[in-house]
Amino acid sequence: MNPLIELKNMTYQAQQKTILDIPSFEIYNGEFLGIMGPNGAGKSTLLKVLSFLEKPSSGEILYRGQTVLNGQAPMELRRRFSVALQQSLLLEGTVFQNIAIGLTLRKTPKPMIKEKVAHWLELFDISHLAKKNALYLSGGEAQRVNLARAMIVEPEILFLDEPFSALDFPTKIRLMEDFKRIMEETRTTAVFVSHDLMEIHYLTNRLSIIVNGQVKQSGPTPLVLEHPNASTQSFLNEWKKFLPALTGSSFKEEKVLKG
Ligand SMILES: Nc1ncnc2c1ncn2[C@@H]1O[C@H](COP(=O)(O)OP(=O)(O)O)[C@@H](O)[C@H]1O
Ligand SMILES: [Mg+2]
Repeated sequence: MNPLIELKNMTYQAQQKTILDIPSFEIYNGEFLGIMGPNGAGKSTLLKVLSFLEKPSSGEILYRGQTVLNGQAPMELRRRFSVALQQSLLLEGTVFQNIAIGLTLRKTPKPMIKEKVAHWLELFDISHLAKKNALYLSGGEAQRVNLARAMIVEPEILFLDEPFSALDFPTKIRLMEDFKRIMEETRTTAVFVSHDLMEIHYLTNRLSIIVNGQVKQSGPTPLVLEHPNASTQSFLNEWKKFLPALTGSSFKEEKVLKG
């Protein structure tokens, strides 16, 4: 199966520092790919490169097997993707207007906008907020609006950068449950950046761990969590202390071996 997006020999430099050095990376159709790693590892930068928001310093990006000229992804291509960030960046106006914005930009006919917004308000369980000022929502409500706004354009790939990180625990788990169901029903391809093992374990089916700007391990999420390699073990071990049930037997063996 051809990847939707592929990186080849990609590096990203800023201020004479190599932030990313990634010989190969793929996003496949239909997957929910997690990108996990410590603070400052380069996760957000990688997400921006993959979604054509940042231009790599060297290397190649392919979309469905075709090279995209560096920094010249056409608007038509960029519009196939949605990006949702930790900060919901909602605009002045109602919740309805915020969710409609992608369709308004695409000059969708008004009756269809109304119908689609109603549909996405309902899926995210925020129909009662439609007329509210988007700038006066709780964190959880704002993130629901943010995700509905990203999904309404039916993106080919949804890119997410720590969308749940600022939410309190009960709010987070309620939203993650709704979000997971929506993603399964719509079968949207997603790339999800997080530093949080619980979120990664719950949502993703494939995982890449990135440390110091390099991809240290990739594979099916349960397999990576169960069998970390020499480069990912110390990062994942931090989590093991608090979420032993999410990590596998190889962790325990390691602990016994080390005494
Ligand atoms: N434009 C930039 N100029 C200088 N340094 C940058 C720039 N963008 C990112 N960095 C640095 O690159 C590293 C990776 O950043 P980032 O991708 O935000 O990491 P993460 O999302 O994993 O926390 C950090 O050390 C950050 O300070
Ligand atoms: Mg980040």
